[in-house]
Amino acid sequence: MSEIEKTLTLKDGNKMPLVGFGTYLLTDQETMDQSIKTAYDAGYRLFDTAQLYRNEDLLGQSFINLQIPRDEIFITSKVAEYSQGYDLTIASIDDSLKRLQTDHLDLLLVHWPIQTQFFDTWRALEQLKKDGKVKSIGVSNYQQVHLQLLATKAEEMPAVNQVELHPYLTNKPLVKFDEQEKIATQAWSPLGRGAVLDNPMIAKIAAHHSKSVAQVILRWEIQQGVAVIPKSKTPERIKENIDIFDFELTEDEMTMIDLLNKNQRTGNEPELVYELGKQY
Ligand SMILES: NC(=O)c1ccc[n+]([C@@H]2O[C@H](COP(=O)([O-])OP(=O)(O)OC[C@H]3O[C@@H](n4cnc5c(N)ncnc54)[C@H](OP(=O)(O)O)[C@@H]3O)[C@@H](O)[C@H]2O)c1
Repeated sequence: MSEIEKTLTLKDGNKMPLVGFGTYLLTDQETMDQSIKTAYDAGYRLFDTAQLYRNEDLLGQSFINLQIPRDEIFITSKVAEYSQGYDLTIASIDDSLKRLQTDHLDLLLVHWPIQTQFFDTWRALEQLKKDGKVKSIGVSNYQQVHLQLLATKAEEMPAVNQVELHPYLTNKPLVKFDEQEKIATQAWSPLGRGAVLDNPMIAKIAAHHSKSVAQVILRWEIQQGVAVIPKSKTPERIKENIDIFDFELTEDEMTMIDLLNKNQRTGNEPELVYELGKQY
């Protein structure tokens, strides 16, 4: 069985865990504390939040409550549309750092591309990295065309592109483009927010490996080199979602899952958010 590394080395030399923990919709301290404790004990070291989730303060407080050493974890946050622009982005990250009770982020992403602040926001991220307030910079929900546009002015290109990706939205051309540009692809809604979990074909593959459908989906993602950040507030699922390093899908199984693609999004269409300047 081939060994899958549990971390990715980003183009800037920093290392990022392949499996992380999503925190969207964790909105009270007790649930956050319980979820982060279960996740940390199960081996998760990457924790994904965003200004938009309005839970950076809860996550920061959980790390303090649980006495988790800062240097053992990897924190990702994202600049919301309302914080975009050069000055606003810089100021908003100082606020994010205060809420998270830390002096740096491991990864800062532009949450969605928007045409009005497109280059200024990225310039702010480059500056924040130079200032040491963030270790790595990246984007989220960028299509190939957005990355190509960014390349016309960027000093440094993103290390990570976090996009919606699951068996019903395989995003193959984008994953390939990211790979060519040495940008790590990280899947959000890696379980399609539950939409993929009742697929009978994946259920058969799962039964064959004595694994759950969720584990097969997450394995299919990491086995193609895509990082994942599944979210759950259910202890058994949190543990299950990182227990994916002890089996391997065959090439045929990988292809069978690839073929389930139907370009079905659970979230917004990036092109429209770019035009509108906000999520809709
Ligand atoms: N960059 C972006 O624009 C963006 C957008 C959306 C999300 N994200 C990030 O990506 C993370 C994950 O995405 P997501 O939360 O939308 O969707 P997801 O991880 O695909 O799915 C989460 C849902 O699946 C359920 N679930 C989790 N593990 C399961 C398992 N093993 N078996 C059965 N059900 C399971 C969870 O239920 P319970 O919690 O009830 O267990 C929850 O309802 C978010 O938390 C957030 O950090 C980023």
